[in-house]
Amino acid sequence: MAHQKFVVFFLSAMALLLFSLTFQLLLLLRVDSSESSWTTGGDVKKFFESAKTPEVFDWMVRIRRKIHENPELGFEEFETSKLIRSELDLIGVKYRYPVAITGVIGYIGTGEPPFVALRADMDALPIQEAVEWEHKSKVPGKMHACGHDGHVTMLLGAAKLLQEHRHELQGTVVLIFQPAEEGLAGAKKMIEEGALKDVKAIFGIHLSNRIPFGKAATRAGPILAGAGRFEAVITGKGGHAAIPQHTIDPVVAAASIVLSLQQLVSREADPLDSKVVTVSKVHGGNAFNVIPDSVTIGGTLRAFTGLTQLQQRIKEVITKQADVLRCNASVNLAPNGREPYPPTVNDIDLYRQFKNVVRDLLGQEAVVEAAQVMGAEDFSFFAEAIPGHFFLLGMQDENKTYAMPHSPHYRINEDVLPYGAAIHASIAVQYLKEKGSASARGFHDEL
Ligand SMILES: *[C@@H]1O[C@H](CO)[C@@H](O)[C@H](O)[C@H]1NC(C)=O
Ligand SMILES: *[C@@H]1O[C@H](CO)[C@@H](O)[C@H](O)[C@H]1NC(C)=O
Ligand SMILES: [Zn+2]
Ligand SMILES: [Zn+2]
Repeated sequence: MAHQKFVVFFLSAMALLLFSLTFQLLLLLRVDSSESSWTTGGDVKKFFESAKTPEVFDWMVRIRRKIHENPELGFEEFETSKLIRSELDLIGVKYRYPVAITGVIGYIGTGEPPFVALRADMDALPIQEAVEWEHKSKVPGKMHACGHDGHVTMLLGAAKLLQEHRHELQGTVVLIFQPAEEGLAGAKKMIEEGALKDVKAIFGIHLSNRIPFGKAATRAGPILAGAGRFEAVITGKGGHAAIPQHTIDPVVAAASIVLSLQQLVSREADPLDSKVVTVSKVHGGNAFNVIPDSVTIGGTLRAFTGLTQLQQRIKEVITKQADVLRCNASVNLAPNGREPYPPTVNDIDLYRQFKNVVRDLLGQEAVVEAAQVMGAEDFSFFAEAIPGHFFLLGMQDENKTYAMPHSPHYRINEDVLPYGAAIHASIAVQYLKEKGSASARGFHDEL
């Protein structure tokens, strides 16, 4: 009896589902045909054309060089932030400031939902620039060696393009200029201070020397790993190196811990689910005949899944292995207040939308599949809070003359700036357009 009831229930549920699917499909077809003039047409291409005009291009190059000459570290981007605000003033874009100390949030469009965000990071690195050129960093020991000067510039470029078309926008574009991407989780602080209020999706760019010039590399799902740090003090009892029986040797304990940590990835992780545990520093002792009281070790961990579990195992291995050798260990999983970054995960729908936009803007061959990288990005905090999409914009030339990020020889290929500005502007416009037409038909989130 119960079985029969279930069958009847099941059949009617299936019928209902089929009906609603067909209905939604019909609506979708309607949306597609009415939007075809945009997706096949000139409008996004116009963004690329204007971004390449001397008026926009030369202006972007000037801004980029000015930022490059005066690099500022995380949460100290006061001059960079000031420059951004004065450019937004000149273009006529309204903004909120300060957000997360130096952050700026600009708004273009109706001021009404839907809201879509574009993000750039502003901070430089503690590196002495080794490139000799006219606009070399004027601050000793600091350098824009990760391309964030280019990211800020491309977002300002997008602001200029979008502001010219502000009356056509079907919602609001939110321009997020964030501090402190390099290790200090500026994105997290921006979110805590309301940067994503009412925002439904966010897009971010990173310049890349690994991708050929003008190509956009992306993938659906996890694209960058999550990252954490650990530091441990292993305490024993120091003494004469020739009378070890009266000491508790933390050097041997540290050595044993470093080796044991290697087994976490090789023996406990799924070989098809990449993870890294690296001990990158070991400090202890400074004489040939003295066993020190303590040794400090530290390193990084990377993972796409199970970052917290890996942190716990690292802590366990360090403390228990220390115990085996009669030492004590204290483990810090957020040294210098540097919290772990989650993995960067691209939303599948935004990924599809993004690929279509780049195809329309630059051609099918401009979209390439990105490999996963164990590097991390604090864009992940945004993409964890709301649907996000992050991609690499290629700037490498045929002779591979552009150096790795975080290298003192790092350079930006400035010819790529119009690509980034136009992609930013186009994806925002397209997102609002699709979101707007979907909600006008009253089924935007049900899709
Ligand atoms: C380890 O900690 C325990 C408990 O605080 C203490 O009794 C012991 O002396 C410590 N051992 C070392 C080697 O510091
Ligand atoms: C690459 O190197 C070749 C040979 O030296 C040179 O002819 C060409 O102009 C270079 N291309 C670029 C983009 O610098
Ligand atoms: Zn970096
Ligand atoms: Zn970076």
